[in-house]
Amino acid sequence: MTSLFRGTSIVTGASTGIGFEFADELASRGMNLVVVARNTEKLEQVAQLLRSKHGVLVEVLTADLSDREQIDTVAQRASKDDIDLIINNAGFGLNESFFDNSVEAEQKLLDVLVTAVMRISHAALPGMRNRNRGGIINVSSVAGWMSSGTYSAAKSWVTTFSESMTMQLRDTDVHVMALCPGFTRTEFQDRAGMETETIPDWMWLDAGQLVRDALTDFAGRQPVSVPSIQYKALGLVAQYAPRPIVRLLSVMSRSR
Ligand SMILES: NC(=O)c1ccc[n+]([C@@H]2O[C@H](COP(=O)([O-])OP(=O)(O)OC[C@H]3O[C@@H](n4cnc5c(N)ncnc54)[C@H](OP(=O)(O)O)[C@@H]3O)[C@@H](O)[C@H]2O)c1
Repeated sequence: MTSLFRGTSIVTGASTGIGFEFADELASRGMNLVVVARNTEKLEQVAQLLRSKHGVLVEVLTADLSDREQIDTVAQRASKDDIDLIINNAGFGLNESFFDNSVEAEQKLLDVLVTAVMRISHAALPGMRNRNRGGIINVSSVAGWMSSGTYSAAKSWVTTFSESMTMQLRDTDVHVMALCPGFTRTEFQDRAGMETETIPDWMWLDAGQLVRDALTDFAGRQPVSVPSIQYKALGLVAQYAPRPIVRLLSVMSRSR
């Protein structure tokens, strides 16, 4: 399994949360890294930590993935021959409902969650296919199975797009996987202004364990990874329950 994780990996949203855990875990397996996010100072701290902890090369690439030019700078880096793995992870949730939010904020979400993932994948996959190695993990969400505003619609796109790439590359050694986490303890909820007191303990995932499970699924060429028993079970309900029930459950939870 370890030989899969060689060369250099680009991790977007690597400054904290799930992205940081990916960067740390991949570096521990010997991969060099390109870490991407908006906050240069935080990225430099992460780079310094991972260089000294794991002895790997870490390149800092500051980019706002809601900006087309900056997305394309990352896409260009992703198209280079040394890139063997991309973790399209950067993301955030919305603070307001669709009707209260500005159209620019909704657009920004689509730019980061959808446009950046598509353009980085489009730049990287042809080279990976020619070299017949490498792959991409697109961090989606169990929210993609729900009917819950632009965020869940965007994550639905991420999962479907990843599955489509998996199929188109099935005769190669290149693999694309969607990772669908449930509630995971990171800065995500605070940044989105979510109330989390009512979420029971059993629904929370640990970001480090989530990443290790995801990498095991990726090595096993799973098209979609849903770490943890509880979310595997909820996933079955969300995917196979009649859509009217899923729609009802979606409006009973927060629709943003
Ligand atoms: N935590 C959960 O419960 C959960 C559940 C399901 C799916 N997810 C998904 O998991 C992924 C990672 O989330 P997380 O929980 O780790 O959140 P987090 O702790 O808030 O981290 C988000 C990361 O994305 C970066 N980022 C945000 N906006 C960006 C932009 N415009 N351009 C570049 N980088 C940007 C942030 O860095 P800067 O602010 O410095 O740019 C940070 O590194 C997201 O795609 C999220 O949708 C999370």
